[in-house]
Amino acid sequence: MHWEHCSRIGKESGRDGDLIFSPTEDWDVPLADYLKSYDEKFKKSVLEADWERAWVIADTNGIYGDLYLVHRPPLKSCLHRATLMMGIERSHRNQGFGSKLMREAISWAKAQPSIEWLQLYVFEGNIPAKRLYAKFGFKENGTTVDMFRVHGTQVADTSMILKLK
Ligand SMILES: CC(C)(COP(=O)(O)OP(=O)(O)OC[C@H]1O[C@@H](n2cnc3c(N)ncnc32)[C@H](O)[C@@H]1OP(=O)(O)O)[C@@H](O)C(=O)NCCC(=O)NCCS
Repeated sequence: MHWEHCSRIGKESGRDGDLIFSPTEDWDVPLADYLKSYDEKFKKSVLEADWERAWVIADTNGIYGDLYLVHRPPLKSCLHRATLMMGIERSHRNQGFGSKLMREAISWAKAQPSIEWLQLYVFEGNIPAKRLYAKFGFKENGTTVDMFRVHGTQVADTSMILKLK
């Protein structure tokens, strides 16, 4: 189930030699809150504030990766933009799954007349993610130093953008 994937990958960030890639040290959203929130947002049209869509990498044992496009900030004045977030569990990285999710999501976003920009936020030192995003045309758009403090470390956050139309 997707909630279990979120919980597993949330515990990988900054642990056992992995990069810090998440602003939270533990993903601890209660299952009931998760189900309610996602069910409501996935049913919204992309012309309504606060919509969300997701793509996942899965096999018969479960989900190992996801990519979300979400409407943030959830204001009508921002319906021409979507924010991208993604994560592949350590066991499934470097096998082309991140690229597959990017291809699918960008192609879907290009087909939505209302969405003109994709944006995302990536920690400055997350070179694998920055390379993946650059491969799909995202350009760096500024960095906020000391944006988060996780695992006792100051983390700088870089914004990246892709013009779709
Ligand atoms: C970043 C991430 C999504 C990449 O997914 P992936 O499935 O491993 O990526 P792919 O196998 O499709 O590789 C795609 C590209 O990513 C880059 N990349 C992936 N792993 C890399 C690594 N260890 N070092 C450098 N570049 C890397 C390369 O540009 C690669 O393209 P190439 O194979 O043509 O060189 C994955 O590492 C991940 O989920 N990491 C943890 C969570 C995270 O950082 N999420 C993003 C937060 S903003």
